[in-house]
Amino acid sequence: MVALATCVFAVLVGFGHLARAYYTEEYRPQFHFSPEMNWMNDPNGLVYHDGEYHLFYQYNPNGTTWGFMSWGHAVSTDLVHWEHLPIALECESDSTGNVLEMFFSGSAVVDVDNTSGFAVKTKKGHTTPMVAIYTSNYPTAHTEPGGAVIREGQQSQSIAYSNDNGLSWTQYEGNPVIESPPPGYEDQWNQFRDPYVFWHKQTSKWIMVAFLAMKQKLLIYSSTNLKNWSLESLFGPENARFGQWECPSLFPLYVDGQISNQKWVLMMAINPGGLVPASGTQYIIGEFDGSTFVPDQADIYDPTQIPSGSIVFQDFESTTSTFEDLGWTATGDFVGLGPRQASTVDVWDIRGYLGTGVFTTYLFGDIATGTVTSPTFTITKDYISFMIAGGSYPYNPLTAGTPDDNQVSFSLVVNGEIVHSQTGGNSEALVWRSWNVAGYVGQDAHLVITDVNTGPFAHIHVDEIIFSDTPKDEANWVDYGPDYYAAVPFNGLPTGDRVAIGWMNNWAYAQNIPTTTWRSAMSIPRKMSLKTINNKLKLVQQPVSTLSSLYTRTLYSRTYKSLLSGQTNVPVPAPYNTRMKLTLKFSRGTGSQVGVILRSNSTNSQETVVGYDFLGQYVFVDRFKSGDNAFVTWQPNPYPGRFVATMPTKPTDLITLNIFLDSSSVEVFDGLGQVAITSQIFPLDDSADVKLYSVGGTARSVSVVVNGVKSAWT
Ligand code: FRU
Repeated sequence: MVALATCVFAVLVGFGHLARAYYTEEYRPQFHFSPEMNWMNDPNGLVYHDGEYHLFYQYNPNGTTWGFMSWGHAVSTDLVHWEHLPIALECESDSTGNVLEMFFSGSAVVDVDNTSGFAVKTKKGHTTPMVAIYTSNYPTAHTEPGGAVIREGQQSQSIAYSNDNGLSWTQYEGNPVIESPPPGYEDQWNQFRDPYVFWHKQTSKWIMVAFLAMKQKLLIYSSTNLKNWSLESLFGPENARFGQWECPSLFPLYVDGQISNQKWVLMMAINPGGLVPASGTQYIIGEFDGSTFVPDQADIYDPTQIPSGSIVFQDFESTTSTFEDLGWTATGDFVGLGPRQASTVDVWDIRGYLGTGVFTTYLFGDIATGTVTSPTFTITKDYISFMIAGGSYPYNPLTAGTPDDNQVSFSLVVNGEIVHSQTGGNSEALVWRSWNVAGYVGQDAHLVITDVNTGPFAHIHVDEIIFSDTPKDEANWVDYGPDYYAAVPFNGLPTGDRVAIGWMNNWAYAQNIPTTTWRSAMSIPRKMSLKTINNKLKLVQQPVSTLSSLYTRTLYSRTYKSLLSGQTNVPVPAPYNTRMKLTLKFSRGTGSQVGVILRSNSTNSQETVVGYDFLGQYVFVDRFKSGDNAFVTWQPNPYPGRFVATMPTKPTDLITLNIFLDSSSVEVFDGLGQVAITSQIFPLDDSADVKLYSVGGTARSVSVVVNGVKSAWT
């Protein structure tokens, strides 16, 4: 046995209260949670107890990048104002400084019935223990106090308890409580993590869900005392499966608000392999009986099946033909070539394609450039779906055709204009994506694959282009933006009041974002429910209603029967031009797109655009020009982009977008909460103009209402 020491070099929590300029640094979120200083990632142990919301979080007490993982702690009575508390679980090292144990992600429960026996006697009876269930990540081989022999890099599940409402913690002497993965998965001993535990009323048992991250396997365990766990079942992989599965949660929600009808939601983080490069969050709806999670058939998809009635436009199976033979035209290095046998494409681990043939621009490394253009066709169906993989080099209308053009993209051209475009997700795994083209039915169009780039990962694979009446189903994304990860709900809240918080960052660049003394913020806490929309049950989200306590009076409000094409200034006084809730309502007029431009400057060199495209039927956030992105070290840089969420509407619909702008983020929700797009932005201080815009004609019945959002930290 070794003597334990803490790895915390200096504890400075709370120091900020004394400083004069508290929470006023550049980019410091004013209505989102961020730690006073240092690095933060996943929310952990979210639990509501005795009128307080506890937020624990992955925390590095020693620096502004990942390391020395400990559990930070804050509490709130309203999910808006937070009080920082001392570190709950401190990373441990031996006397020579080797880190022995880091406290990875997990959950917390309140053990009301003292099933764990961790309560202590009080004059009135006994305490109510709070129990944290987390992953012990052991960087150094050693023997635990209870005798467990630990390998270097091992991940096991452990527990700790608190009898003073989470202020001080004692680790259970029998840790770890689940040392290794189950039989058949022993080799995953260093990829076994993120236990989420809840009380399952119907079976009177504690349930734990945890992941074998690299196997995309959910393990479901049960326990009566939080110490002894039995494996109940396994689930996965399903839906978005090309990446590590992390931070699961499983929770019931009412269907359309009916208390008699509840379904279970499995929510998980996936990295890489999100909808946009790297980190994403998906969910699957199903049933849970205390033992097995059974997904609704409507909620899982088979990537090999295409919607019935689809027209296969090109499946790239004719690997002995040239593009010209197939009626396509090629330029540059692609002249005279054709589809390839996927198995002969010399990249590491190309996968997911259908059949054996595939389109690729990976020929002799990444240096091949040129275009390949489809024959012209008439759009007859509402959706074009296809499979895609490769590096993330999006089509950028601002640079396309200029010397700065670096796109590696697959695009749809109607009337000479690119109306939809998709790039790869920095992955060799082909995934389905769909474009809504209902607005273009009857028009002639063509598809073009463009690779003007010779840099790292500058290639694209495309397969199975189909035309259909419905989109090819994809994973259900909780958020369509780049910065919503590791979301988990609170324990201890009634089913009808389920609230979740996500980490508002992305592993692709999280450790480099240009903040100073701290790194990362949490999302706005979101109320989650299930709603049937267009015959499909969907997870819908709304910012918690208590956020309104920070709203100023209405600073600007205006309606337009018809908003003309072009830009219209929305005067919002500082500081609320960088910190606001903006509600935009509109209907379709003669124009093709309507929205707001935020954080823009006089030269328009900076702007963040939030809008709705009537023809493409999508909500989007565009951060191509949102400010600093030079901090990203990954190549291809996954940061610049337009993040799109398909949301079909009827021409008569009144569409609502609720936009929450903070110092370095924007979160967008449609009125129903079926679409959320979360994105960090790092504009210059003086990029603070707000404008309404309409493209190509008018938007009807437009209204804009702006409330400032006061700081939660003063
Ligand atoms: C997710 C994650 C978890 C892990 C934690 C470590 O962001 O990788 O799987 O427990 O971060 O900080």
